[in-house]
Amino acid sequence: NKIVLAYSGGLDTSIMIQWLKENYDDPEIIAVSGDVGQKDELEGLEEKALATGASKFYALDLKDAFVEDYIYPCLKADAVYEGVYLLGTSMARPLIAKGLVDIAHKEGADAICHGCTGKGNDQVRFELSIKAFAPDMPIIAPWREWELKSRDEEIDYAESHHIPLKINRETNYSKDKNIWHLSHEGLDLEDPANEPQYDKILELGVTPEKAPDEPTYITLHFEKGIPTQLNGESMSAQQLLLKLNQLGGANGIGIIDMVENRLVGMKSRGVYETPGGTIMYKAHALLETITMDKETQHFMQHVSVKYGELVYNGQWFTPLREALDAFVDKANEYVNGDVKLKLYKGNIIPAGMTSPTSLYSEQIASFGEDDSYDQSDSKGFINLFGLPIKVRAQQEKKWNK
Ligand code: ARG
Ligand code: SIN
Repeated sequence: NKIVLAYSGGLDTSIMIQWLKENYDDPEIIAVSGDVGQKDELEGLEEKALATGASKFYALDLKDAFVEDYIYPCLKADAVYEGVYLLGTSMARPLIAKGLVDIAHKEGADAICHGCTGKGNDQVRFELSIKAFAPDMPIIAPWREWELKSRDEEIDYAESHHIPLKINRETNYSKDKNIWHLSHEGLDLEDPANEPQYDKILELGVTPEKAPDEPTYITLHFEKGIPTQLNGESMSAQQLLLKLNQLGGANGIGIIDMVENRLVGMKSRGVYETPGGTIMYKAHALLETITMDKETQHFMQHVSVKYGELVYNGQWFTPLREALDAFVDKANEYVNGDVKLKLYKGNIIPAGMTSPTSLYSEQIASFGEDDSYDQSDSKGFINLFGLPIKVRAQQEKKWNK
């Protein structure tokens, strides 16, 4: 009897080892943590897992895969959920789930267990992704079974079983951290009337009012829709994102406070910090405006909404996402060049861009002298384009006589 547990060391999964032992006939627990850039949260996880009853611990380094195979496709698709959420948690779940399945297969496990509640999106994302690789694997979700009803009751359970926790009751926001973002839900945020206590909440940066009075200029270089250099310096995908997180955080960039519609029906309020990601998305979108033809660019707007929904809803491993990727890759073929940005107190202000594959023709757009655009062509164009409006107005005149 072996169970693979998605282990983060947070409140939920900390007490789950004990609970599984008590309720699933004393199974062997294999704790697996997927490193997607949680940094300090990963410290001491192995010791903790083993000390609290796991027989084995795996740490999977998923950071490169996360940035290159999950974040970048979303970036190239301009994928967002409900106009603002940059999907930080949503895009990490399928990757972690895939890692869990790999270990479960390797260990010959009988089930996979996760710490998501029965009220959220994450349970759906984990389980759809597990099904994609292990269609018959039993899944255990203690939150949907146990008698603990709140995070406070979980803390009581931990205390009575001498399970060490890093949190206390007041700072007990439900958080999810990775290299792309940090989310905060719960406590006072549950009432949308409350202004977030940013000074207590923020970890990746500062509020705009605490950002420096001097702007920071940066230049991002893209190739085929992917950032490859910062300020002329080539760096790895991970390094580049970490650097942008620093610069964005210091300038108060990428703080979102939103009420979102969860897949399971309810509205929920969250605060998200996505400093580097917000800069990347903005730079990419700007570069699209000079490198993408009008029709493709307009179609991209539909794709970004649909892609965002798929990712949010946990449908990563689906034929539709792959088909959209084919479109997105093609559309990004010429998204090359340099975007200069001014970061200033929460704002990202465009400061010029250039592209070797630009579609922008200064000569054609210019108000000055130009011999490739014949202004007299417009007369006939407008006559045809305006025909329905003209005919309607003529007919209306007759009707109203
Ligand atoms: N509401 C966000 C989403 O659905 C964030 C979820 C955070 N998850 C967590 N386990 N704290 O993507
Ligand atoms: C959870 O409920 O486990 C976290 C929030 C979410 O999944 O939406």
